[in-house]
Amino acid sequence: MAALKYAGLEDTDSEEELPPGWEERTTKDGWVYYANHLEEKTQWEHPKSGKRKRVAGDLPYGWEQETDENGQVYFVDHINKRTTYLDPRLAFTVEDNPVKPTTRQKYDGNSTAMEILQGRDLSGKVVIITGANSGIGFETAKSLALHGACVILACRSLARGEDAVQRILGEWHKAKVEAMTLDLASLQSVQHFAEEFKSKNLPLHILICNAAVFGVPWSLTEDGLESTFQVNHLGHFYLVQLLEDVLRQSSPARVVVVSSESHRFTEINDSSGKLDFSLLSPSKKEYWAMLAYNRSKLCNILFSNELNRRLSAHGVTSNAVHPGNMIYSSIHRSWWVYTLLFTLARPFTKSMTECRGVPSSDPGHYKQGEKMTGTNASCCTG
Ligand SMILES: NC(=O)c1ccc[n+]([C@@H]2O[C@H](COP(=O)([O-])OP(=O)(O)OC[C@H]3O[C@@H](n4cnc5c(N)ncnc54)[C@H](OP(=O)(O)O)[C@@H]3O)[C@@H](O)[C@H]2O)c1
Repeated sequence: MAALKYAGLEDTDSEEELPPGWEERTTKDGWVYYANHLEEKTQWEHPKSGKRKRVAGDLPYGWEQETDENGQVYFVDHINKRTTYLDPRLAFTVEDNPVKPTTRQKYDGNSTAMEILQGRDLSGKVVIITGANSGIGFETAKSLALHGACVILACRSLARGEDAVQRILGEWHKAKVEAMTLDLASLQSVQHFAEEFKSKNLPLHILICNAAVFGVPWSLTEDGLESTFQVNHLGHFYLVQLLEDVLRQSSPARVVVVSSESHRFTEINDSSGKLDFSLLSPSKKEYWAMLAYNRSKLCNILFSNELNRRLSAHGVTSNAVHPGNMIYSSIHRSWWVYTLLFTLARPFTKSMTECRGVPSSDPGHYKQGEKMTGTNASCCTG
């Protein structure tokens, strides 16, 4: 076929040939459409091949595109002093992708926090991140703070939280960061945290439920619940309930629940398909650390979805995210076997440097100004 076309001997019965009464035209933007003069109708698809096309390239030298009083495009050939409704580029059409272009994915698993936040000014935004003294939570806190957000690091150890604050201030002395105590293994601590936060009279634009334990031995919290379930899910669930009014008042606001792909490897329903509460906070006899983690992560997703369903109409959205597989954070610390596995996987998985996008020692695009003075010059309430 191509050879015939090249030789100018193309099969006249080709699927590109228009049936009698049809004419090929172009729009101002170069899209090809087909006019059926018998039925007086137009369509985008070629009447035989069903393909959509557009013309490629610029008009030939000396040609100009005009529009007549009916809005129809015509072409002026200034060299030969003639006009025509036939686009001279129609001989050079290219097929349009019949699949409707979807919104191009801007980011993927290799995108760094800095790439995603590039050019964003988050001044005036207030963010709470649980478990922000290490790992993914710390990198998230730092990236948001370096873009102007006021970030509260909600940590179970205030000392570790303060240390994280200092590390962020070491990168940018004007960062608005503050550590507060939040132990998700204690519902009372969650309540105290919420009260203390509310007493600051700050808005809350982003709440990131990030903290988690993984593979820990069975233990009960002071509330009598299995600790993985309470820390990873229930504590966050309670925190969101307590802060829901502030989130609503601060809309548009968002909740981000850091879950995991591993939520897929478990069930929380009984054989009749109903939620089995005994699976959520199992006894020591029925406890398997890995399964408890997976279940807590499934709870994260179910919670986030339901939260989004209930609050999005009020300007508060919720999304659950999987941050990546086996990122070398501190998550593996509960058992040396996990540490070994994470170490072996380390060369093949996303690193903390890749998460953040710039090495900690490099303040990158941020100005290094005068040294910070005072002890709490960058706290959110300051
Ligand atoms: N790393 C991965 O490959 C991976 C994969 C999928 C999902 N995730 C998810 O990513 C999130 C962050 O994990 P990570 O990898 O960054 O782990 P990480 O470095 O161990 O961070 C976990 C954070 O949670 C805090 N935390 C633990 N128990 C707490 C409690 N009772 N109350 C308040 N905070 C508590 C820890 O504080 P302390 O330092 O005081 O213990 C720590 O700051 C988790 O939700 C995890 O499930 C991680």
